[in-house]
Amino acid sequence: MKNLFYFLLFTFGWTFGQQTISIIPKPEFLKIKNNYFKLSKNTEIESNEMDSFEIQYLQNSILNQTGLKLHSKSKSQATSKIILNLRYIDTISTRVKSQYEIKIDETQIEINANSSEGIFYAIQSLLQIIPAEKNQIIKIPCLQLQDYAKFQWRGMHLDVSRHFFPKEFIKKYIDYLAMYKMNTFHWHLTDDQGWRIEIKKYPKLTEVGAWRNGSMIGHYTDQTFDDIRYGGFYTQEDIKEIVAYAKERHITIVPEIEMPGHVLAALASYPEFSCTGGPFEVGKTWGVLEDVFCPKDETFTFLENILTEVMELFPSEYIHIGGDECPKVRWKSCPHCQKRIKEEHLKDEHELQSYFIQRIEKFVNSKGRKIIGWDEILEGGLAPNAAVMSWRGTEGGIAAAKQKHFVVMSPGSHCYFDHYQGEPKNEPIAFGGYTNVEKVYSFSPVPRELSEEESKYILGAQANLWTEYINTPEHAEYMLFPRIAALSEVVWGTSNPNNYKEFEKRLISHFEIYDKKGINYSKAIFEVTSKVQPSENGVAFELKSVNPNGIKFTTDGSEPNANSMSYEKPILVTSNQTIKAAYFENGKAKSANIEQPFFITKSTGKKIELIYQPHENYGIGGSFTLVDGMKGNTSKFGRDWLGFWGKDMNATIDLGKSETISKISINTLSSVGSWIYYPKSIEILVSKDDENYIPITIVSSKEIFENKGKIVVKFDKQNVQFIKVIAENNGIIAEGKPGAGSNSWLFVDEISVE
Ligand code: ACM
Ligand code: ZN
Repeated sequence: MKNLFYFLLFTFGWTFGQQTISIIPKPEFLKIKNNYFKLSKNTEIESNEMDSFEIQYLQNSILNQTGLKLHSKSKSQATSKIILNLRYIDTISTRVKSQYEIKIDETQIEINANSSEGIFYAIQSLLQIIPAEKNQIIKIPCLQLQDYAKFQWRGMHLDVSRHFFPKEFIKKYIDYLAMYKMNTFHWHLTDDQGWRIEIKKYPKLTEVGAWRNGSMIGHYTDQTFDDIRYGGFYTQEDIKEIVAYAKERHITIVPEIEMPGHVLAALASYPEFSCTGGPFEVGKTWGVLEDVFCPKDETFTFLENILTEVMELFPSEYIHIGGDECPKVRWKSCPHCQKRIKEEHLKDEHELQSYFIQRIEKFVNSKGRKIIGWDEILEGGLAPNAAVMSWRGTEGGIAAAKQKHFVVMSPGSHCYFDHYQGEPKNEPIAFGGYTNVEKVYSFSPVPRELSEEESKYILGAQANLWTEYINTPEHAEYMLFPRIAALSEVVWGTSNPNNYKEFEKRLISHFEIYDKKGINYSKAIFEVTSKVQPSENGVAFELKSVNPNGIKFTTDGSEPNANSMSYEKPILVTSNQTIKAAYFENGKAKSANIEQPFFITKSTGKKIELIYQPHENYGIGGSFTLVDGMKGNTSKFGRDWLGFWGKDMNATIDLGKSETISKISINTLSSVGSWIYYPKSIEILVSKDDENYIPITIVSSKEIFENKGKIVVKFDKQNVQFIKVIAENNGIIAEGKPGAGSNSWLFVDEISVE
């Protein structure tokens, strides 16, 4: 394929007169020419497929965008026309349905493709080329454009269980995907907090399961709830309408029916399919809950009947069956489950989960469809034909591709749009994490660990929008935009993270489109971002923004304004202070301030080594995170903390020379709903030579708990150069606790030495 486009053009962000062409996702080839085409009410649309949806779509879109009402004909004599030509493009492979070309000269816009999908994508590009202005004559630059998608799964997910979104918003969401040439909508229809799809055979699923008697308010850690009945569901008629709407826009809807965990809403409706018999209430709280489906025959009949109705509604090749976060507590003490384990000669409850998924897979396969599940379906053995959606990092996806299973990449590190996209204090409450536009844009769906052959199993990628904290369409839009634009370029396959700035320029010009369409979007892209690096006697605080010349900052705690210090180079921080900064254009702040307190101690900026590495999702700053002078903020898991998955934190700090010290502080975190547990112990040792270590203390689990993870150890003065801190991971999570049977997360922050 690629060699057809050997004449790639690298100049993007094309300016034509006053106009700039900013197509997202970036097309494979684009050449701007001199002159322009004039779009007016005299322009006609000509097509060899007059009754196609695309003609009507183009007419309506141009009308909305420019106010011009264009007529369409099978053969037009007009001197100004747009030709939609559904024919094979000779230079283009007929196998790639996404392929299209656009040729614009003074008299016509010619669109060629070999499928209606290609025509549809051409229209999306054209709508981004046509300026959104209401004028009698609209000038469009002459150009030549050729394009096609590199990944076949270009997905976006929406959780409608934690919060319900009306049918009209789902259609809007589909329009948003279409605008960026995405082709897969992963619809998370069932979970603990609500069952959202009508199933005729089991009416209680929506009579009971679609409604809960209250919702969480505020942050998870507060565990506060209202008592307002909340819910909603889609009738089968709604679903048919939405599936048809998506199909016209070349979007496949992949429905997700969760099992065997995340099923409390189903169990509240039909408790007989649990291990204990219930009773249950639809979940108000969220997290990983212990009541799950019991793998007895009746449960499989129930699920097969549900899936039969689901498959009748959704024509997708793949049906998502969940498979994530299924605690094994109930199965361990359930006679049915234990009998099943014995009868099927299974090793343990993990193999029982695998049995569960394989049995469901057999059924789905028997109907000519395939299953896809979250990466936990790898545990205990992957079902023979299953595709894997890799969310706990990319490891699951790598393992699956190596086993020749198809994979959709969706790691929490880059693809979770429920994470913050800006400074948490300036953002609506979010799940945690930090995934800004640049991070999304930097994602590469094909991991380096895979060979060329194995890489063929990567279908593409998607981002997930979990809605625990998102309860309005406006908020969902805010989390989606503008990150979806970055994702679209990643999955179209033309992203270039090394030239993020070029993408950023195009993206900012899309804000005008969002404004005109009334889309609620985040402007966090204008926020100052920062990077900390070790420096002599402290750290260097580097600031970045859309344009670094516009950054103003203060170090005395005051709010920055247009007259504050201009940022020129990384700020050296060698004593305790708080830096505040914002980005200004024409004397006005474009974003809210960022604010960073620094606590400089003898360990700040010093060399630090770790025996075990943190998990890729919570370790971007590496070991330096522990001595960067910034204390952990619980809303910034991803930046200020290191997260160790099932491993100890074993760190050695080299102060560089012998220092007199008498106090060491360290922070650890507990958030059991997210499987983050305090360490079992924290051991501190010191040494003059990195060989002979003197033990200072071992802080017990009880002390860690009583001090809420914030440990301060004072001791008699010591002259040493090396400090070793070992925080022992909680290990496999105990029975009865959230995440039982799984590894614990250990989150550690700053190690301060005074
Ligand atoms: C997931 O985020 N639990 C798939
Ligand atoms: Zn059971």
